Amino acid sequence: MSYLETTQNVYKEAALRPNIGLCCTTNPIWELPGLKIPKIMQEMNYGCGSTVHARDLTNNPKILYVGVGGGMELLQFSYFSRQKNGVIGVDVVDEMLEASSRNFIEAEAQNDWFNSDFVNLRKGDALNLPVDDGSIDVAAQNCLFNIFKEDDLKKAVAEMYRVLKPHGRLVMSDPTCEQPMNNTLRNDDHLRALCLSGSLPIKEYIKLLTDTGFGTIEVRARKPYRILDPKHYPTDEMIYIESIEVAAIKDPMPEDGPCVFTGKAAIYFGEDDYFDDKKGHVLLKNQPLAICDKTASTLTALNRDDIFISDSTFHYDGGGCC
Ligand SMILES: C[S@@+](CC[C@H](N)C(=O)[O-])C[C@H]1O[C@@H](n2cnc3c(N)ncnc32)[C@H](O)[C@@H]1O
Repeated sequence: MSYLETTQNVYKEAALRPNIGLCCTTNPIWELPGLKIPKIMQEMNYGCGSTVHARDLTNNPKILYVGVGGGMELLQFSYFSRQKNGVIGVDVVDEMLEASSRNFIEAEAQNDWFNSDFVNLRKGDALNLPVDDGSIDVAAQNCLFNIFKEDDLKKAVAEMYRVLKPHGRLVMSDPTCEQPMNNTLRNDDHLRALCLSGSLPIKEYIKLLTDTGFGTIEVRARKPYRILDPKHYPTDEMIYIESIEVAAIKDPMPEDGPCVFTGKAAIYFGEDDYFDDKKGHVLLKNQPLAICDKTASTLTALNRDDIFISDSTFHYDGGGCC
């Protein structure tokens, strides 16, 4: 059996019998006026962060969500889009599609603004999306892509890129890991399907996105996720897994390379009212400016004693250079 088939079996089971501990998210459940998340959706929350960010969701975006799980994030997206077929949900597992559509009926009963036809569920594979080219404003996946092996991961990201409109955004949450994992872990299809042994270091994850063509990357959050310890897993050392929330925006690739925001900021604290590097970056005195890693390198290379460049906080929430 291939690891993709093992994955489908794991999620078939998780659709038939909700498995509360399957993925552990530290995210609080969204509380918004008039939004009620049915209990069954909460129990079937198999994500590792949030892909729903209000600032991505202006102007009635057409939304695609790949790997629907219990449907919680599709309901949250619908809260913002509120239109028939506003959110397309794609999943390869029949039982998951059936479970989520039952959950949407339950959501309808609890949310008077919601109608099940706001969500258009489609059977399909992340590696070959049943979605037209350039038709989507916001594409999202939560805790699915980390399962894919390298070639499949490239395909899945390329598929998201294909279906996005220019300047559309791919919003994702996935486990990441900075430590090397041994081959026993890497080749364990079951652990991979459980989102425990496929994760990449953040730099590799970002490179895959920029290699696909996304010109702007935003790392929005980085959080503790899981521990693989030698007592319970085939590893000699303890392995620490984090989860990140990332947006990849289909902006044209800048000539000098992608703009990757990892939560760095620059602060000018010199004698003048502002500092202008004549390359499009104006730092107002004592006001932190969010900068991408490229701008951070350029400013650092100036070697000035009146500009402070922060480390990456891995919490970027908009604005700044580029
Ligand atoms: C870890 S769960 C995440 C579910 C949901 N995103 C959430 O946050 O709760 C992975 C989801 O991807 C689906 N899935 C697995 N393989 C897939 C594939 N190749 N293409 C599309 N969906 C897939 C599973 O059925 C399951 O719904």
